[in-house]
Formats: sequence, structure tokens, C-alpha cells
Amino acid sequence: MFSPRSLVFGALGLMLAGTSSAMQASNSLLLNSVAESLALPMYTWSANGTHHAKGYTTKDANETDVKGMHEDCENINLNRKLATDFRSDVLGPGAIGFFYKCERISHDTNLYWFTISSGEQSQIDQLCDPNQKYPIVYDSQHNTWFIDEPFECTQRTSPSVTA
Ligand SMILES: *[C@@H]1O[C@H](CO)[C@@H](O)[C@H](O)[C@H]1NC(C)=O
Ligand SMILES: *[C@@H]1O[C@H](CO)[C@@H](O)[C@H](O)[C@H]1NC(C)=O
Repeated sequence: MFSPRSLVFGALGLMLAGTSSAMQASNSLLLNSVAESLALPMYTWSANGTHHAKGYTTKDANETDVKGMHEDCENINLNRKLATDFRSDVLGPGAIGFFYKCERISHDTNLYWFTISSGEQSQIDQLCDPNQKYPIVYDSQHNTWFIDEPFECTQRTSPSVTA
């Protein structure tokens, strides 16, 4: 008899033994599902890079929140973070930020690796502007106020028009 557990292992075994086209099909199932739930536009502009952020206990930004910064970094390294309408207070709605790696580079600064995507090129231009300022924002998950420093874009892509 098949228990639910052995069905799961069976499916995994099939996937692992599958051809590369089966792997691509399973990847696009995941990616299509993410794209659909996020209502990702058909044509997107993207950028990746790194940026620094500092966390504080209050909006006055007088005292570093070492615990909140540590927890945010740890959470990103464990779970990654997909942020819809990322910094809509500055960029307007529709930018999607993906944060997949974090490093505590000093007691008051985190370094984050990001990829951002948008249906509007101007949002990516604005995000990649080294002079762009970001107002302090409250992160309720870690009860911490964060100041984002400018995003340093290392690579940018435009929609590839294949038709
Ligand atoms: C940006 O993407 C390129 C191409 O995938 C990769 O080589 C590079 O390491 C990425 N940069 C960052 C900072 O993640
Ligand atoms: C935080 O700093 C500002 C300006 O430096 C000061 O006016 C304010 O009183 C400080 N707040 C606290 C809670 O220390």
C-alpha cells in the first residue's frame, strides 16, 4: 500500500530521475505560479546588486536596534524575502524586490543582496539612482525602524522582445 509519505518520495524520485526538460517544466510551474500570484507584468525591467541598511529602535533613529537587524538578516538568509510593492512610498506601486542574502558587516549595518523587477523602467532607474533618498520605514515583523541606503545596481536587464 502507498502511504501519503511514499507518494511524496515517489514523486520526488521521479523528479530527480527526470530529464532536464522535466526539470525545466517543474521550474516553470513554480515560477509561473509566483509570477501569476504577483501579477508580474509580461515585460519587466530588472536590476540586481547590494545595498546597506541600518536599523533603529525608534523613528528618531537615535539608537541602533542590534537585535532587530540581526533577526532581519537571519530571516532573509533562512527564508529569503519577496517584497511586493517594494518601497512604494518612493517608487510608486508595482516594484517587486527579492532579498536572498544578508551579512552583518558592522554592529549598526546590514548588507543585503537584492534583485528587483518592475513593468516600468523608470522605477528601476529611480531605484538604481545613487542619490535617491529613502525615508525611514517601520518593519513590524522585527519591530525595527530601517533606513535604506542607496541601492547599488551591478547588473540591469531590459525586456527581451522575442516576437
Ligand atoms: C547579478 O547577476 C549576475 C548575473 O546573474 C551575477 O553574475 C551577479 O553576481 C549578480 N550580482 C549580485 C550582486 O547579486
Ligand atoms: C533623538 O535625537 C533627536 C535629534 O538629535 C533629539 O531631538 C531627540 O530628543 C532624541 N530622542 C531621544 C528619545 O533621545
